[in-house]
This record gives sequence, C-alpha cells and structure tokens, in this order.
Amino acid sequence: MEQSIRDTEAPEHQLRKRLTALDLTVFGIGVIVGTGIFVLTGQVAKELAGPAVAVSFIVAGVVCGLAALCYAEFASTIPVAGSAYTFSFATLGEFPAWVIGWDLILELALAAAVVSVGWSGYFASMLSSVGVHLPASIAGDDPVVNVPAILIVLLLTSVLVAGIKLSSRVNLVLVITKLVVVLLVIVAGLFFIKGANYTPFIPEPVPTARVEGLKAPLIQLIFGVTPVAFGVIGIFAAAAIVFFAFIGFDIVATAAEETINPQRDVPRGIIGSLAICTILYVAVSLVVVGMQPYSQLSTSAPLSDAFTAVGHPWLATIISIGALAGLTTVVLVLLLGQTRVLFAMSRDGLLPRSLARVHPTFGTPARLTTVIGVATMALAGFVSFGELAELVNIGTLFAFVVVSLGVIVLRRTRPDLPRAFRTPLVPLLPILSVLACVYLMLNLPVQTWLRFIIWMIIGVVVYFAYGYWHSRAHREVTR
Ligand code: ALA
Repeated sequence: MEQSIRDTEAPEHQLRKRLTALDLTVFGIGVIVGTGIFVLTGQVAKELAGPAVAVSFIVAGVVCGLAALCYAEFASTIPVAGSAYTFSFATLGEFPAWVIGWDLILELALAAAVVSVGWSGYFASMLSSVGVHLPASIAGDDPVVNVPAILIVLLLTSVLVAGIKLSSRVNLVLVITKLVVVLLVIVAGLFFIKGANYTPFIPEPVPTARVEGLKAPLIQLIFGVTPVAFGVIGIFAAAAIVFFAFIGFDIVATAAEETINPQRDVPRGIIGSLAICTILYVAVSLVVVGMQPYSQLSTSAPLSDAFTAVGHPWLATIISIGALAGLTTVVLVLLLGQTRVLFAMSRDGLLPRSLARVHPTFGTPARLTTVIGVATMALAGFVSFGELAELVNIGTLFAFVVVSLGVIVLRRTRPDLPRAFRTPLVPLLPILSVLACVYLMLNLPVQTWLRFIIWMIIGVVVYFAYGYWHSRAHREVTR
C-alpha cells in the first residue's frame, strides 16, 4: 500500500494535481447522467416496471449508496489512480487486483463504446430534424460502420491527451447544459402530468418476450418461476438494468491522484454526485410516466418524445440537444476512468510498463489514452451493442462487491492507516452492500452471466500469459 502511494511520487509517473471537490462532483455528474436517464427510463417503464420505474431507481440508488460509502473510505485512505483495482491490490493482492482491473474494462471501455453508439443515434436524429439525412450504412440503427460514434471518441480522446484541466473545463460546460435540460424536463413536464397515468402504479405481472429463454433473469430461473415482467419482481429486474444510470460515481475515485486534497474531496465528490443524481432520476421518471401511459413511452428517446406526444416538439428538440451534450460527457469521463485504471495496472507491470509513461508537456498518460481511444473506436464503430449495457452492469456490480469486502479486510489487516473518511457500521454496512449487489446481479439475464464468465476466463489466461511473469511483485521475488 505504501508502495502504491510512493509510486505516485516518482517523477516519470506523476500525474498533475489540479482537481477540487467541485471539479470531482462535476466529473461525477458528467459521467452519471446519460443513457440511463435519457434512454433506459422509457424502455424499462414500458417493458418491465410500468410507473414503478421510479421505485426501481430508488432501489438501484440505495445499492449504489452503500457501495459509495465503501468507495469513499478507500479513496480517502489510498488516494492513487486506479480505483477498485488499486484498492484490491492493496487489500487482496495481485491476482484479485488483476481480475478487478480486467473486470473494470467491461465497465469503462465497453460502456464508453455503448454510450458513444447512443450519442451517434441522437446525433443522427438531430441532423435529420434539420433535413440532413446520414446514409444508413454510416449511422442509425444498424450501420456497417458507425462513423459519428468513431468521431466522437476520436475528439474526446484528443481532449484527454491534451490535459486534465482542459478536460474538466469542457466537462463543466457540457454538464451545465445537461442539468438545465434535465431540470427543464422536470419543471415543464409537471404541467402535463395526468393522474390517471399513475394507475396501476405497479402493473400486474405478465410473461413477455422480454424475459424468455436466456433473457430471463437468473434469479427467476434459480427459483424455477415462470419468467414475468412487471409486478414487484419486475421492479427489481428493472432496478438491475437502470443501475446503468448510476454507473460513474465510482469513477470519481480514479481521479483521486489528480486531486489537490483527495482525503477530504474524493468522498465529497463521490457521495455528492450520487445524491444529486438519485434525486434527479426519481423526479424525471415520475414526471415522464405521468406524462404518457407507460405502454406508449418511446424506447429510444423517451424524454423528448414525451414532449412531442403532448404537443411541444420544440421542447423535444431542446431536450435532444441536452441529451447530446449529456452523452458526450459520459463518454469523456468513462474514457478518463479507463485510462487511469490501466495506467495503474501498467505501473505495476501487469501490462507493459512503457504504457504508463506520462507525456512531458501535457502531464497525461498520452500513449495509453491513445491506445484506449483506438480500441474504443473499433468497438463503437463496428460492433452492435444492445444488450451489452447489461454486461457493463454485471461487471460494475462485481467490482462493488470486491470493494465492499475490501473495506472489511483492510480494517482488519491495517487498522493503523489514517482514514479521513470512515464507512459507518463496519462490517454490517459493507456486508449489506455485498448482498444488495449480488441480489441485483442475480436479477440480470442468464446470457449476461454467461458472457461475463467467458470474459473473466479470458482475463485469467492473459494474466498467466503476461502479467504474472512481468509484474513488479514477480520481479522482486525472483531478483
Ligand atoms: N451512468 C451512465 C449513463 O447512464 C453510464 O449513461
């Protein structure tokens, strides 16, 4: 652990310390508010939860809140880039840390690609509203090459290479735009709410195509019940999916090393951004299901389409612009988080160490950022995603489980370490966090579990082929 902290002081691997609690909260909101609220709200209300989607957001928010308290303790104890990866290294050792680092690629790079594809969809629809129609082969539902998605990743990669302070300024402007639009939805939407749309608040459970075969939540299969959507069961299945909307607060911890006063400000950034987003989500989802019967909500752009449905297409256009700004910041911060995690892994020798070199002028890990940018462009441009958002969720929940366990382990093994922020009620709260995360994981579809397991097996193979032999720990033992 002390080694991890010392590493951050070596000149050739030193990141520039410029960020404050406000910067971190803005980064947090920047990455949290995105596809989850702009797209999934409508989809999940229509297919799984009905108006009770607001309850699903509360469930997912509570699960994240428990994990956030654990992340906050870690980040205030070990303010080193790499978040869950670094925390696992410090508490559980190299192999579990590698597993988490590999798992975080699912959360970060995959989510960046998923969201940039969503960005491309909004971009294409904005252009078509002003009469410019992109060919179906380069944009839209099923393009051969998704050109707008590639371009947005290219642009944001360049911003990240150019410097962390610039990234946070660009982020600030976009986050303000996004927040104004979300508040607009809440306030303007209030005038169009019809009480009748809230009944039934929890629709009767029904078997639907959404939950057949490998698409059924694992928990329904384990208990041998006929898979159903809606009802109380549906609320939890929906919570496991809208969990995507909260992903990102943990990424604030990856910027700890670039924060001026990480012990105080990282917990503030994590908890503050999560609390603000939970309130916004519950409000937005209540408004949207009040505006239209849940069965008529749009699944691609529910917020803006709800305003078109009540006869205000100009508001719909403004909301689309906000969504575009919102999704941009999500991709930006996801990419930032991914570079910082892989940066920490390379510094430890689990990936080629030369990747962790910081650019002399920009003060950022430029080489690594470029590699990740190119890989994300390839994913976003050529792979069609859809259900892979669920894979992002399972990967993230797994990381939350490990971090929560890590808090308990570190309290036992290193009670002496100064902890500026202490998770309350240890070990009860971390145990609740583990149980809650596992419960949401069980609510994800069977096929998501299979994909997750395959990805993790590949990770283990890569570790024994490279990381094990080249890691700093291995070299120190064999020296
Ligand atoms: N929370 C982010 C989103 O909803 C990943 O897009």
